[in-house]
Amino acid sequence: MSGKKTAIITGASGGIGAGLVDGFLGEGYNVVATSREANRKLTSSSSLILLDGDIGEQQTAAHAVEAAINNFGTVDVLVNNAGIFLKKPFIDFTTEDFEALVSTNLLGFFYITQRTVKEMLKQKSGCVVSITAALADRPIAGVNGSISMITKGGLNSATQNLAIEYTKDGIRFNAVAPGEVDTPMHRDDPNDLTLQPAMKKATVKDIVDAVLYLAQAGHVSGEILHVDGAAPARRW
Ligand SMILES: NC(=O)c1ccc[n+]([C@@H]2O[C@H](COP(=O)([O-])OP(=O)(O)OC[C@H]3O[C@@H](n4cnc5c(N)ncnc54)[C@H](OP(=O)(O)O)[C@@H]3O)[C@@H](O)[C@H]2O)c1
Repeated sequence: MSGKKTAIITGASGGIGAGLVDGFLGEGYNVVATSREANRKLTSSSSLILLDGDIGEQQTAAHAVEAAINNFGTVDVLVNNAGIFLKKPFIDFTTEDFEALVSTNLLGFFYITQRTVKEMLKQKSGCVVSITAALADRPIAGVNGSISMITKGGLNSATQNLAIEYTKDGIRFNAVAPGEVDTPMHRDDPNDLTLQPAMKKATVKDIVDAVLYLAQAGHVSGEILHVDGAAPARRW
């Protein structure tokens, strides 16, 4: 075992997740990176294990946590980054939409967080950061993501509840809630600049910096850190 800290990052193959992988490696962490196409899109190293799998399935969570423990000895940070966002009028959402959002955004949080917390309880330390969305509590007219926000708002609430449940065990839970970020998620959607009142998207680095802060902020727990260019402070 290396003595370095270990981070598990979900949704690691692109966008914010790929930035998180680079960010944590740059801070000297060992990283277990998982997504459906992690091996096709990233390159492994002695500090970086890549695992392919759907985060909405139990076995993906099991493999990631086992890889961290068996190869590096601990799980110090879990970043629940894998997620999808569907935007459409409420009356057009389908059961398939609902199930896809629940699978990736909620089961994808539940399975791996539960397994990780079991390890963190043995360690008596750990940090979980979930990437949610500013829209969950700062909705914007014309950006219709109601069912998507059931999941992201749910993760914010779970973060605050878990922070209380596990504070005595030394495990911290926080969320980063981005506004619009310049990633493939919005590449084909030019209208999405309405998401960002400053008419400027966040960069992946803006989000990575927030997660790295929370990873080392030892007395911060139960916080929802918005990274959205001060949306509520503006009128546009
Ligand atoms: N971009 C934004 O404006 C924005 C705003 C607010 C919140 N967020 C949140 O930030 C997080 C990252 O978003 P992003 O913009 O980086 O998205 P992205 O560019 O679409 O990347 C999403 C990542 O999640 C992985 N993924 C998707 N479905 C998966 C599944 N079922 N199982 C495993 N991995 C899966 C993808 O990898 P594979 O294809 O390899 O599986 C990919 O690496 C998401 O939770 C998103 O909701 C983003």
